[in-house]
Amino acid sequence: MNNVTAVILAAGQGTRMKSQRAKVLHELAGRSLLHHVLTAAFEAGAKDALVVVGFDADNVRASLASFGDRVRTALQPEQRGTGHAVECALAEVPASAEHLLILCGDTPLIQSADLERLMKAMDPSDASQVLSLLTCKVTDPTGYGRIVRDGSGAVLAIREHRDCSEAERAIDEINPAMYAARASFVREAVKQLKPNNAQGELYFTDVVAQAAALKGAKAVLAEDASTLVGINDRAQLFAAEEVMYQSITDRLRKSGVTIRGDARVDAGVVVEQDVVLERGVVLRGATVVRKGAFIDVGCVLTDVVVAEGAKLQPYSVATKSSVGSKAHIGPFSHLRPDSEIGDEAHVGNFVETKKTVLRKGAKANHLAYLGDGDIGEGANIGAGTIFCNYDGFRKHKTEIGPGAFVGSDSQIIAPVKIGAGAYVATGTTVTKDVPDDALAIARLKQENKEGYASKLKARLKAGSGK
Ligand code: UD1
Ligand code: CA
Repeated sequence: MNNVTAVILAAGQGTRMKSQRAKVLHELAGRSLLHHVLTAAFEAGAKDALVVVGFDADNVRASLASFGDRVRTALQPEQRGTGHAVECALAEVPASAEHLLILCGDTPLIQSADLERLMKAMDPSDASQVLSLLTCKVTDPTGYGRIVRDGSGAVLAIREHRDCSEAERAIDEINPAMYAARASFVREAVKQLKPNNAQGELYFTDVVAQAAALKGAKAVLAEDASTLVGINDRAQLFAAEEVMYQSITDRLRKSGVTIRGDARVDAGVVVEQDVVLERGVVLRGATVVRKGAFIDVGCVLTDVVVAEGAKLQPYSVATKSSVGSKAHIGPFSHLRPDSEIGDEAHVGNFVETKKTVLRKGAKANHLAYLGDGDIGEGANIGAGTIFCNYDGFRKHKTEIGPGAFVGSDSQIIAPVKIGAGAYVATGTTVTKDVPDDALAIARLKQENKEGYASKLKARLKAGSGK
């Protein structure tokens, strides 16, 4: 098959999800149901895709932005059935598209290998063959359309559950609703559809009967029915997500990643060889973990790049940030967006960073807030340091030179620059630039009053009445 446009039906509300959002926008392992289906269609070789939208159309359209021009949408103003949805799509399908791959937006476990088999079953040299459909056998066919075959085993039609006779209900071969077809045939066939069925809708499944009448339909039996399930409610969403996480975990383990217990890796995350993911780790979005990195218990990383050999200790949380090679993070560190932790740098417990660079070997080991900062190579940030970056209206930058030392409990009032090798004494409030190699100290001189402690205590005790 060449010149294949995927048509994805996604206009329905998905009433059984009991949700304000369209069903296809619900997420499974970090991607929407629709996103999974589109990804499989492209992997299988579709050139472009048309998504039929209706319920919650604006949000469904917005969710497709990352695919660019390759994915367009067609509006189905009223949901009058799957056949009507395909008809709405056809108005937007380019005339040059020879073949269609017709899928539903609610079957996220679909494998590109099955779609490839489905498309291969269409023989381009045999003009009489107009459609191929995937089928599978299930133990409980309730709710699905049944595959009706004649005595010789040829497909005759698909009968919807509600329209089945008693005998037809016993058929265990069902329609997962995945089809490949000649565009020219489908254009004519959808015009013939009639809503004479239990739901009064235009069923795309009746197009299969038309293809069968022309002796032009071919069924492809899929081996693993579990990958063809449609999601209709949240229990099915949960079950499918477990299947997806298990398959991601299996694939990564086979590729040389140690994954303990219930660690969760979303679809689209990259994890390289010899990485260790301890229990309760969650890796999301566009996260990449390079060779040999160690991610300890309970870390949650969203869109984070972790370089080779870095170590994240327990319960560290990072978002849209990067961690350099052999850097140490945590336990209990919080890297907020645009934190760049350099090679061999250390960020310790209860340190929060935001839009801040720690260059090679810089350290902030305990209890600090570092926002809008640039911290030079090998600089040391003491416990309790605060970058006062926000004046209530704007954010200001703190620059700290290489090799500088910031003593504990210092407040750095930005914008300010601390020079290379400079030394900020403990407890200093820095309000102006510190030159290279200078010592900045700003605190009250200590005074000791000899013998005064016991006098003070006696006075306090008398006043307390005890
Ligand atoms: C459909 C099939 C059924 C198959 C089952 C597999 C038909 C008539 N039936 O039934 O044979 O076994 O899928 O899961 O095709 N949609 C629209 N516009 C509409 C109606 C539906 O875009 O007017 C979309 C929905 O958003 C959904 C998909 O089509 O993504 C399937 O619709 P759904 O109502 O779930 O069909 P089923 O009853 O499951
Ligand atoms: Ca369905």
